[in-house]
Amino acid sequence: MGSTLIVLNLKTYLEGTGEGAVKMAQACMNVAESAGVMIGIAPQFPDIYRVASQVDIPVFSQHLDGVGAGGFTGHAFAQSIKDAGAIGTLINHSERRLTLLDIDASITSAKGAGLTTIVCTNNIATTAAAAALTPDYVAIELPELIGSGIPISKAEPEVVTGSVDAVKKINPAVKVLCGAGIKKGEDMKAALHLGSVGVLLASGIVKAKDPKAALEDLVSLI
Ligand code: G3P
Repeated sequence: MGSTLIVLNLKTYLEGTGEGAVKMAQACMNVAESAGVMIGIAPQFPDIYRVASQVDIPVFSQHLDGVGAGGFTGHAFAQSIKDAGAIGTLINHSERRLTLLDIDASITSAKGAGLTTIVCTNNIATTAAAAALTPDYVAIELPELIGSGIPISKAEPEVVTGSVDAVKKINPAVKVLCGAGIKKGEDMKAALHLGSVGVLLASGIVKAKDPKAALEDLVSLI
């Protein structure tokens, strides 16, 4: 499997006790195997354990707090997330924003638990700031394109290339993903062409009539 990474964020699109998330993860696993691409999934917190126990793909948390064990009610604790079976976490998604200090603390906690970190950003400047904190990945997503069906890689390519360039200057060890409105193979192909190593996406797959077919289309031009 190459170094291309696709992460499917389920957000709170699916209701129920996790069967939908497991099905979605199985579709990801099947397509990942046949296409030779790494496809991870970010289910809701209560579904992490179930998905990770039943399907052999990378599972990510949708959020993580920079807290340790102790008196922290209502927080997403890195070690528990790791123990539930996640291998990584999103941090600072546009729908779950944090301060710079919080992002730093979340990265530190995640790393302490051995979790891969993907810090989401909303423009080139925040991408540069996030890269300075040395996560494994930054994911540039324009908030106005999230859920729009208009792919960032085609509508705003300069935001992706600008992010890639900024990260190269600040911290070349950090890998860049992009997201927002990504759905089709050509969106994915454009994302890779712009220098990102993969995509973070949600509605184009989760809301598709046939999510597996949508995933097959997504990877068809890699
Ligand atoms: O985390 C992925 C994301 O915010 C993009 O959402 O629905 O535009 O693929 P979507």
